[in-house]
Amino acid sequence: MSRDPWRILEEEILNCTKCKLHMYRRRAVPGEGNRNSVLVFIGEAPGEKEDEQGRPFVGPAGKLLTELIESTGYRREDFYITNIVKCRPPGNRDPEDDEINACLPYLIKQLELVKPRIIVCLGRHSARTIFKLAGLKWTNMSTQHGKVYSIRLFNFNVKIIPTYHPAAALYNPQLKSSLEEDFKKSIKPVLSEVLEARSVKKTLLDFSCEKKSSLLK
Ligand code: URA
Ligand code: SF4
Repeated sequence: MSRDPWRILEEEILNCTKCKLHMYRRRAVPGEGNRNSVLVFIGEAPGEKEDEQGRPFVGPAGKLLTELIESTGYRREDFYITNIVKCRPPGNRDPEDDEINACLPYLIKQLELVKPRIIVCLGRHSARTIFKLAGLKWTNMSTQHGKVYSIRLFNFNVKIIPTYHPAAALYNPQLKSSLEEDFKKSIKPVLSEVLEARSVKKTLLDFSCEKKSSLLK
């Protein structure tokens, strides 16, 4: 029997030494949540609390992210949450390009497994990395946050929405209102649209199955 691809991937991340961040971490943080989610949140890197607990977004920025998610009427467990790099940079410095590049195959594998319809990039490092991966032009957060970029990525259609990092919004009320607005005016409506389309498709499928089975009777 073949082994669970998620287990293999997580074990690989937990034991990874592909970049220098492995020297400083307590625990690598692969990601968590609904592996069949239509939406994936991608942050930057684990912070202190995440490094301690081995879970993403469990510190103060995580508390804000959870509140923002709940403001859309969903719970954080409904979605998959991960980061660009899986190990904490010392002193919470920005992740460097060689670290991002070394870690990227793990994120790509996660996206291939989840096949989300929506990717929300939290913060500029997440956005610039995902935009590059998608072949999109990244300029800056102030002009691009809250916009919806529909593209094809690894054989599936996906909508990419960049927004501010919750940690940046914690002490900046203006960024916090932009972040709240992006959740309200972009993320929530796009999510409803995708889920609606999915339920229509399911109803049509159920209908054609019913029709087939009644024809068989
Ligand atoms: N900031 C991030 O980008 N990711 C986390 O998991 C926590 C804080
Ligand atoms: Fe490996 Fe990524 Fe951790 Fe670097 S950040 S050691 S590539 S898991």
